[in-house]
Amino acid sequence: MREQLSPTDSSSNRFDRRAGTLGEAAKVHFHDLHPAPADMRADVHQGLSLPQKQLAPKYFYDAQGSHLFDAICELPEYYPSRTEIDILRRHGAAMAERLGRDALLVELGSGSSLKIRVLLQALRPAVYMPVDISKDHLLQSAEALAETFPALQVHAVCADYSVPFVLPVDDHEHPRAAFFPGSSVGNFEPSDAERFLLRVGGLLGPGGRLLVGVDLIKERQTLEAAYNDAAGVTADFNLNLLTRINRELDADFDLTGFRHSALFNPELSRIEMHLVSIREQQATVAGRSFAFREGESIHTECSYKYSIEGFHQLIRRAGFEPEQVWTDVDVGSDQTPLFSVHCLVWRG
Ligand code: AVI
Repeated sequence: MREQLSPTDSSSNRFDRRAGTLGEAAKVHFHDLHPAPADMRADVHQGLSLPQKQLAPKYFYDAQGSHLFDAICELPEYYPSRTEIDILRRHGAAMAERLGRDALLVELGSGSSLKIRVLLQALRPAVYMPVDISKDHLLQSAEALAETFPALQVHAVCADYSVPFVLPVDDHEHPRAAFFPGSSVGNFEPSDAERFLLRVGGLLGPGGRLLVGVDLIKERQTLEAAYNDAAGVTADFNLNLLTRINRELDADFDLTGFRHSALFNPELSRIEMHLVSIREQQATVAGRSFAFREGESIHTECSYKYSIEGFHQLIRRAGFEPEQVWTDVDVGSDQTPLFSVHCLVWRG
C-alpha cells in the first residue's frame, strides 16, 4: 500500500538532477527541457521590430523576476493570490473529490509551489510534476516540497509550457490531472489560451481533469491598483525584463529611460502592462539597434479577466467541459466574487 502523504521535517531527500523514469529511490527527478538562449534572442529581436514593440511575459521569470513575482503575491493590492489561496483552503476537499487521488498531477507554472501545498494533503497524488521556466526557483521549490512530503514522487520539469512539450515520464499507471493556478491562463491571448488548453487536454487524455484559477472581471480601480502597487514592486518586476535582456543578450537598455505602466482596457477586458520610453533613445540588443520615440512603449504583458460564463465558452472550444466552479463568495450571496477556481474535464 502507498505510504500516507503527510508532511514531515525529514531532510533525507536526495536530489537527483538527471532525468529519469519513475522510481522509488530519488525523491526529485529533474528534466531539463528549457529553451535555448538563441530562442530568447530571436523572440526579443522579433518583438522589438514590431510596430507596437512587445516582449513575451514568459521572459519576466529569471531568478530575480520569480522572486519579484513572489513579492507581488504578498502585496495588499494584489488580491488574486491570497483570494485564490483562500478558495483552495476552503474547498480543497471538494476539489480533491473531483480530481481523484493517486494521480500524476502536473502543475503548470509552479513557481514556488505554494498553492499546491494547500491541496496536497487532500489530493494525495502519487506523482507531482511541477513545470516551470525558471530553473533555480523550480529546483529549490521542488526540493523543499519533497522534503516536506517524502512519500511523494516529485518530477521537476524545466520547460516553457506556452509551447508544446511532452511529459518526460513513461507513466500509464496513474490517472492524470493538472493544476494551473494564479490566473496565468489570462496571460495568453484568448485564441492562444484555447490552443494551450487543447494541448493540456492532450497531455491529460479523455476524462483527465484540470483545476484552473481565473481572475474575474471587476471594476477598473481594483484591477489597476493590483498592477500599480504603492511599493513599486510591479514596476520593478516589469523593468527587470530589461535588466535580464541587458545581462543575457548583451544589451544596453538604460533603465532610467523607461517607466512602468499598467492600465485596464475594458473593451478587451485585460490589464495591459507596458514599459514606456520617457525620451527618444536607442538600445542595442545582441548586435541589433532599436530606436524608441518619446512615449513609445514596449507591451510586456496582457492579463485577461473573464466572467465565469465567458471562461466556460473558451474552455468548451478547447474540448473541456466545466464540472464545478468555486469562488470567494458563498453560493446565494449577492456579493460580487473576485476570483474563481474551475474543475474542468477533457472530453477530447
Ligand atoms: C502570473 N500572472 C497571472 C500575473 C498576472 O496577474 O497577470 C503576472 C503579474 N503581472 C503583474 N503582476 C502580476
